[in-house]
Amino acid sequence: MSDSVQASSSQPFSTEAYFQSQQPPPTLAAKTAQVAAFVEKWQGVKGKRVVLITSGGTTVPLESNTVRFLDNFSAGTRGATSAEYFLAAGYAVVFFHRLHSLRPFSRHYSHSLNPFLDLLTIKNGTEIGVKADDAAGLLPVLRAYNQAQESGSLLSMDFQTVNEYLWLLRAITREMAPLGRRGMFYLAAAVSDFFLPDERVAEHKIQSSVGMFSLEMDQVPKVLRPLVQEWIPEGYIVSFKLETDENLLIPKSRAALSRYGHQVVVGNDLHRRKQEVVFVERSAKGTPAKGAGNSRLTGVQTPPVMDADLPEVEEYAETWLKLDQLQGSEGREVEIEELIVRELVLRHTKWTQE
Ligand code: PMT
Repeated sequence: MSDSVQASSSQPFSTEAYFQSQQPPPTLAAKTAQVAAFVEKWQGVKGKRVVLITSGGTTVPLESNTVRFLDNFSAGTRGATSAEYFLAAGYAVVFFHRLHSLRPFSRHYSHSLNPFLDLLTIKNGTEIGVKADDAAGLLPVLRAYNQAQESGSLLSMDFQTVNEYLWLLRAITREMAPLGRRGMFYLAAAVSDFFLPDERVAEHKIQSSVGMFSLEMDQVPKVLRPLVQEWIPEGYIVSFKLETDENLLIPKSRAALSRYGHQVVVGNDLHRRKQEVVFVERSAKGTPAKGAGNSRLTGVQTPPVMDADLPEVEEYAETWLKLDQLQGSEGREVEIEELIVRELVLRHTKWTQE
């Protein structure tokens, strides 16, 4: 953080004070109604499980006619990729994502990495086809996409600012609460820790004539606590923890678990996030973590660890999922999200049966 950008030292907003003082987005009612209809549809299908995936980074606009904003790092890869595996596992998916971040299925043909037009050929001057080499890869993606479209099992909903994210997150989770244990909440979005309250956002573009520009920001309330305890008391909740210092990954993940009391924190190091992640869970004293499996694709299992510094929770279990431990045993390319989703589905199944 530069000298000119400082967090405010004033009293932080409570979640309640935040929602009382900050304006809801104009789309709130319409989007809430969409989620309500989606939940109603799938709640009526016996045994159907529904997952909310949050994906991408939130912005903090500096002007209400926005020219500049602060952003959080996330391309939306984790969320978009996971959505495909949850759909394949039979879940209905609410994909709550940053506008223009990666989306399930279309992510395979992102304009920067694999431009769609490069796949196409023109035959006989008028007909469009897909190059033979690319058709084999496209077919399963197209099939899965069509299946999701036809069954209506994927609801996509976008956010841009942290304010939109918070209002919509509360509305969506409340609509999903009646699903009880059939609901999973997979919070992969990178949410801004700081924001500018409405009254301090400039209306028009800030002029360079102001000279040196300094910014005082307030802390975003920690909504994970009410989310876990009030909004969705029965849901299976997965949060993520991103760190750049690998030594902080496990302590910070444990601290999040201890603080919020949910089911699992998936820790990922910025540079290794596509190769490995660690599941951090609470475990009853002397017993393995709830649902911690020994599936073929699970990486190293470490025993539960005592940590006297975190009094609310006595023991934790860490389970690493590592792609390099598969050693080509799958005979195909495997994405880390496949392993994450597979493990979570096992845990969620246990959770719904308890
Ligand atoms: O999209 P990619 O480029 O693939 O990157 C994926 C990722 C690295 C961003 C993702 O895997 C990840 O780690 N996301 C969480 C980033 C993070 O550390 O968030 P956090 O410390 O701000 O929040 C912790 C958890 O609480 C997260 O699950 C977050 O979604 C959730 N949260 C936080 C604050 C808030 N107000 N609301 C929330 O839901």
